[in-house]
Amino acid sequence: MGDRLMGAWERPFCGGLRAADVGRRVELVGWVRRRRNLGGIVFVDLRDREGWAQVLLRDALREAGEKLSQEDVIRVIGTVAARSADTVNSDMPTGEIEVIAEEVELLTAAETPPFVVEDRVNASEELRLRYRYLDLRRPEMMATLVLRDQITFAIREYFHGMGFIEVETPILTRSTPEGARDFLVPARLAPGSFYALPQSPQLFKQLLQVAGLGRYVQIARCFRDEALRAERQLEFTQVDIEASFVEEEDIYALIEGLFAKVFPIVGITPPAAFPRLSWADAMERFGSDKPDMRFGMELVELGEVARGCAFEVLRAAAATGRVKGLVVPGGTAFSRKQLDELSEFAKPFGVPGVLWFRKTADGYGSPAKKALGDEGIAAFLAAAGAGDGDLLVVVGGVPKVVFAALGALRVELGGRLGLVRQGSHAFLWVTDFPLFEWDDETHRYYSVNHPFTAPKAQDVANLESDPGAVRARAYDVVMDGVELGGGSIRIHDSVLQQRAFAVLGIDEAQAKHRFGFLLDAFRYGAPPHGGLALGLDRLVMLMAGRDSIRDVIAFPKTTSGNCLLTDAPNTVDDAQLEELRLRVDVSRSAPNGS
Ligand code: AMO
Repeated sequence: MGDRLMGAWERPFCGGLRAADVGRRVELVGWVRRRRNLGGIVFVDLRDREGWAQVLLRDALREAGEKLSQEDVIRVIGTVAARSADTVNSDMPTGEIEVIAEEVELLTAAETPPFVVEDRVNASEELRLRYRYLDLRRPEMMATLVLRDQITFAIREYFHGMGFIEVETPILTRSTPEGARDFLVPARLAPGSFYALPQSPQLFKQLLQVAGLGRYVQIARCFRDEALRAERQLEFTQVDIEASFVEEEDIYALIEGLFAKVFPIVGITPPAAFPRLSWADAMERFGSDKPDMRFGMELVELGEVARGCAFEVLRAAAATGRVKGLVVPGGTAFSRKQLDELSEFAKPFGVPGVLWFRKTADGYGSPAKKALGDEGIAAFLAAAGAGDGDLLVVVGGVPKVVFAALGALRVELGGRLGLVRQGSHAFLWVTDFPLFEWDDETHRYYSVNHPFTAPKAQDVANLESDPGAVRARAYDVVMDGVELGGGSIRIHDSVLQQRAFAVLGIDEAQAKHRFGFLLDAFRYGAPPHGGLALGLDRLVMLMAGRDSIRDVIAFPKTTSGNCLLTDAPNTVDDAQLEELRLRVDVSRSAPNGS
């Protein structure tokens, strides 16, 4: 670089210049966002992380200016000047100033980029991910990275202030029981053995409580080999916490305090205490364990009217399962096609379709009209409390499926009908999750959370007699229908732990084999403890008002698990496999396709 006016750390950001800087002689570095030639003066928008400023190249600098192309990297020395009143641009933060250049130096020439680096980008997401470093140059993307840093910093500051200590836990470890598939890493020094990447630091944070740390926090990377969605990645970041001698109320207060500090960064003020809903109520009323509470449209109970109705399908569903519905305001106006779409939407959740009921100027309508008649339809509409113009959507069947289908339909229709007020937010604790879930295929119970979650004291007696009814001391924190975090008070008593393992079909020998180190640790004075983990990517996504966590992760993977930038995952040399004593056989399909 040519003679410098300022050291690197004194140099202002282009996007940070303001009217107060007028008269200042500055050195700027950045990327050419745009170049225009107007009346013998070259105007360059010079961009950096913070935004951009207009630089004027005139007289002797004009020729150099004309040679500049988009995304060239340049250095400019010049003086900040006030723009004339008629050229002030009040839409941009640097719109009151411009920089009159005295020197310009081309540091690196850029080739024409594959897409224009502008917020109103029309390149496909695939192209943007392939050239992620260009995509990140877009102010909107850069602002998200900056926001993520601010949030992470505020989180660390909060926990530090609350006496928490950040401890790093291993990445090469043993399988953790979070329920997803593990990523395995072959151990060269122990052929045939594998490390697992942590699905969460769960066991280590509990061991740190046995060690007496008392209050642990970690911004921890976690790895789960599971199906990807907008709010899921193979690797993601948790704000992981655990503390000793705490109860549910302590965790609620801790997280409410954290949100009170962090959300104002984006102008959101959460309530001092979040409403609470038991898991059972959340399912009954919203068909979801992470209900979006920004709008009503609660599920309605139709078991009784279905049991006495003349439509065999619903009668049978009410006798063996559940029949519930949704009253859709203004839904009578739905076209036949839109009504059919409701069924298509619900089918992936395991229902054959949805039934609908309505009363229009043409009379009562429903696909079940033949069996039910006008009276039967009227009975359903009345039981649901459906008024004029309302459409009643009904689903019957196995409870889990009924809740899932109606819960998803509620969110979909709430969005379509614009029931969510712009800028409104709803925070919620979902409590009293079941401890175990029965699986019909494998005929056994599984932990809803993980096997170290404590049962509620009043349910402990039912552990063996009615495991499905035992509630856990587990809680989730939900915002706008997204599960932001979850945790529990843990078991710290080895007798109770053995009883929980027994329900899960884990005998003493298996328990010793899988979690022996934790059970051993618990023999030497385990304090009562509990904690929670927040999904940092999801938190930043909601705070940034984005729809996908891919937008708030610098280098995310696609929904098929690929990094388009580096082309990972990729094959490796035979020599590398040889060293690990591995042989690959891709000719056979995987035991289960997903
Ligand atoms: P859990 O499995 O509920 O709990 O995870 C905690 C939070 O992590 C986030 N999360 C994810 N974010 C992005 N992509 C994923 N694939 C993904 N999976 C989870 C969610 C979720 O709420 N050890 C326990 C916590 C505890 O009990 O203390 C745990 O990991 O926001």
